[in-house]
Amino acid sequence: MRYRGARHLPEWLEQGAAVLRDNRKDDLTDTFQAIDKPICIEVGCGRGGFIRQMAKLWPDVMFIGIDKVPAVIAKAAATSVEQGLTNVLFIIGDIEDIAPKLDTHRVQQIFLNFSDPWPKARHANRRLTAHKKLDIYARLLSEDGVLEQKTDNQAFFEWSVESIADAGWSLLRVERGFAAVDVEAGGVEASGVGAGSMGTSGVGAGGTISSQFVQTEYEQKFRAQGIPIHYLCARPPKA
Ligand SMILES: C[S@@+](CC[C@H](N)C(=O)[O-])C[C@H]1O[C@@H](n2cnc3c(N)ncnc32)[C@H](O)[C@@H]1O
Repeated sequence: MRYRGARHLPEWLEQGAAVLRDNRKDDLTDTFQAIDKPICIEVGCGRGGFIRQMAKLWPDVMFIGIDKVPAVIAKAAATSVEQGLTNVLFIIGDIEDIAPKLDTHRVQQIFLNFSDPWPKARHANRRLTAHKKLDIYARLLSEDGVLEQKTDNQAFFEWSVESIADAGWSLLRVERGFAAVDVEAGGVEASGVGAGSMGTSGVGAGGTISSQFVQTEYEQKFRAQGIPIHYLCARPPKA
């Protein structure tokens, strides 16, 4: 199968490399069952920079990036292979079509980074924090699993906070204009990331996994322009 807009990619990728799956043609149930690590998922991973950085910080976790645009995600997979990453998987498809093929209550964390805000009211159901999507995440997340969202769009953020609360989820953290955490400079302790029920403090193997430690491509662009970034972390109601 050829990926439109990705003709420059090496032949092996088009034949289906280990880090790339296509919901339209691959058996995802088998793929998921073969994973022997804790799983974290980014829905709408774009070019995959976030997934790759997270995978380097937590080598014992499998990071899965899902996106419905084939050319973008194929490039994300190619770059991961170039970097020698073995704990990443990219899947082409819509989260609504992919989720039924995953085991229930197996995913440790789901990340929504700079998702499309779909500003028109008539498109509200397409937002990745709409109730229909939250039900999907609740089915995927493990008992202590959490959803993390980051966005620059304040209206979308406030709508998401309300949608999540209305759906009966617990909001563990809601931070408007959160400061970037500089992991390299040891900024983790000062940031307070990982406090409360999210786990032990510290970043990297064994420590708290959080999207606050890694900036996505969109985030870097917005922060460079001085645009505030908002963050939330939420846990679904008990099944
Ligand atoms: C604005 S980009 C953000 C990319 C990246 N997360 C970042 O922060 O740099 C949003 C991405 O979400 C993807 N997306 C939107 N709805 C989706 C869905 N229902 N399932 C899978 N991907 C989706 C889009 O194709 C797009 O690549």
